Amino acid sequence: MAKSLLFLLALSFIAFAPLCFCYNNNNHGGYLYPQFYDHSCPKAQQIVQSIVAKAVAREARMAASLLRLHFHDCFVKGCDGSILLDSSKNIITEKRSNPNLNSIRGFEVIDEIKSAIEKECPSTVSCADIVALAARDSTVLAGGPHWEVPVGRRDSRGASLSGSNNEIPAPNNTFQTILTKFKRQKLNIVDLVALSGSHTIGNARCTTFRQRLYNQTGRGLADFTLDQSYAASLRKNCPRSGGDQNLFFLDFVSPTKFDNSYFKNLLANKGLLNSDQVLVTKSEVAKQLVQQYAVNNELFLEQFAKSMIKMGNLSPITGSRGEIRKNCRKVNYS
Ligand code: HEM
Ligand SMILES: *[C@@H]1O[C@H](CO)[C@@H](O)[C@H](O)[C@H]1NC(C)=O
Ligand SMILES: *[C@@H]1O[C@H](CO)[C@@H](O)[C@H](O)[C@H]1NC(C)=O
Repeated sequence: MAKSLLFLLALSFIAFAPLCFCYNNNNHGGYLYPQFYDHSCPKAQQIVQSIVAKAVAREARMAASLLRLHFHDCFVKGCDGSILLDSSKNIITEKRSNPNLNSIRGFEVIDEIKSAIEKECPSTVSCADIVALAARDSTVLAGGPHWEVPVGRRDSRGASLSGSNNEIPAPNNTFQTILTKFKRQKLNIVDLVALSGSHTIGNARCTTFRQRLYNQTGRGLADFTLDQSYAASLRKNCPRSGGDQNLFFLDFVSPTKFDNSYFKNLLANKGLLNSDQVLVTKSEVAKQLVQQYAVNNELFLEQFAKSMIKMGNLSPITGSRGEIRKNCRKVNYS
């Protein structure tokens, strides 16, 4: 009797053990879920939302900056908060990579959220999840779609400057290079076009598109895929030399509203970055998607939310790997 009970016990242990193992060691993103903090930190999402709302009320652009922060985090070894780390003995910060230098922002807002959440539930909510939630809340505040953010990411114990330089697309990359960089992240052309729609809000510096205004071809000519009067107005504040950091709206029609006017601009040859305009000049498939989103805002918002969840699920750290940082700017022990 006792023996068979023991046998049953052993059997059920063997039967269930693998479940526990695959749960803990999974690193493919399937185990993030929206309710992750429901018991361990029920107020987490509310704290993120209220601090993001305050920051965006202070400065509308912050919504764009926080959205981009999530993108630049996810494309470098997954959404693991690596972009938040400052340089230290063993870490070279991603903040000084080409795509990020003098450009990426929002760290103070993440710090403020982190310290409020640490007071509420210490060592529980990851910095990577805070960035993912802040990106969603920013989108909603700018008038975009809402989605449930799968959470449960843990924070990295390192950063990758070379990853940041190489994996994040540049505004002068060719369409093929940009698509290849998305595919490396398991994102497809639909995701590329929808997520590029992020450029319906926020700013870009003169230096990121100057080449289009003066010497796109290498023969001293402007980009012929850029509307001429739009180009002329851009030149006023983006001279041949100097003014590198001068700011321009990525969507000049409704720069703080999350809508499909970005796609309408592309069809009018008024995309700001070369990487924006190539979506209609270099790929028939991408162009068709742009056309669909340009006439159907709902369709764009729906696909944007889907693609954001997909991007947010990129190789998260889960289980016992990584850590929950106490301060988003540094690892807990180094
Ligand atoms: C497709 C390839 C992409 C390229 C080449 C690209 C490039 C850029 C560049 C050059 C800027 C201006 C940075 C500056 O001058 O400081 C920018 C801004 C921005 N990007 Fe992208 N981006 C891409 C995709 C994305 C994606 C996928 C997202 C989000 C999911 C995104 C969100 C943003 C936002 C919101 C801004 C404005 C940031 C602010 O105002 O602070 N971008 N991007
Ligand atoms: C893109 O711009 C960077 C920075 O200005 C420059 O170093 C690089 O050569 C450019 N690449 C291409 C393909 O034009
Ligand atoms: C345009 O770019 C080409 C190739 O980079 C360079 O040789 C040329 O001097 C530039 N022309 C002007 C007018 O800036």
